[in-house]
Amino acid sequence: MKVLIATDKPFAAEAKSGIRDVVEKAGFELVLLEKYTEKRQLLDAVANADAAIIRSDIFDKEVLDAAKNMKIVVRAGAGFDNIDLEAATANNICVMNTPGQNANAVAELALGLAVYAVRNFYNGTSGTELMGKRLGIHAYGNVGRNVARIAKGFGMEVYAYDPFLAAEAIEKEGVKAVASAEDLYTACRFVSLHIPATAETKNSVNYALLGRMPENALLINTARKEVISEAEIVKLMEDRKDFRYVTDIMPGNHAEMTEKFAGRYFSTPKKTGAQTAEANTNAGIAAANQIVDFIKNGNERFRLNK
Ligand code: 3PG
Repeated sequence: MKVLIATDKPFAAEAKSGIRDVVEKAGFELVLLEKYTEKRQLLDAVANADAAIIRSDIFDKEVLDAAKNMKIVVRAGAGFDNIDLEAATANNICVMNTPGQNANAVAELALGLAVYAVRNFYNGTSGTELMGKRLGIHAYGNVGRNVARIAKGFGMEVYAYDPFLAAEAIEKEGVKAVASAEDLYTACRFVSLHIPATAETKNSVNYALLGRMPENALLINTARKEVISEAEIVKLMEDRKDFRYVTDIMPGNHAEMTEKFAGRYFSTPKKTGAQTAEANTNAGIAAANQIVDFIKNGNERFRLNK
């Protein structure tokens, strides 16, 4: 059994050695493809692999069709918008993710970006504090829940909106649940995005929604760039000089944003939310264990496709 790690953005060394231990203890062989530059390399690597551990690597129909021996692909992380689930099913490949394993890392970065923004990107001028300010968490999943925990430590007033959770489930954690995204953006000067990129959410964070935020608004994006309308956030930031935007997912219009909104916009150069030794180890080893348990015992917990 060949288990391929295919990661454009490599795991930390300790995560790789942890994965190797799990894979080799099961009697399987580990194969590594990192920092690949051509799709061809990925197509060649999947051709004789039985299982794969990936991150945001694009597993589209072409890649999945080329994976003739593949039985399982595990996305070491949460979002799976990079995988064509239908093509996986058509090729009889099970797809899983590892929910929650990198959530704390992403949440810490969200608050880190908030501090960076309110301290004027550390340019030495007088900024503001997070304490006492209202933070809206847009989608209260594993990352959102960790953001709430950390934000409470900062002394923030935490609100959340999640269409898939009952208000009681949110409120029992000391977070104020609101009934709609509109209510969240109206109430909160800070909003942290944690929605997945789906057909319904793409471009859903638009001028109308962002325009509801109170004065001196800050939008923090550690989710996906696709959920924000790039054209509309430009228009909004042109109209509202008090609006700031920090993101861990470089938008398509990064050059325009940088030029137009100096001092109000920041993007990390490469998505870095889950780039910690701990998150890599947690997600990578969980992925390896899920592969072994699926192949040896048929365990399909965390399966995403039908
Ligand atoms: C996720 O969906 O788990 C995060 O966005 C992290 O993605 P990454 O593994 O590509 O860093």
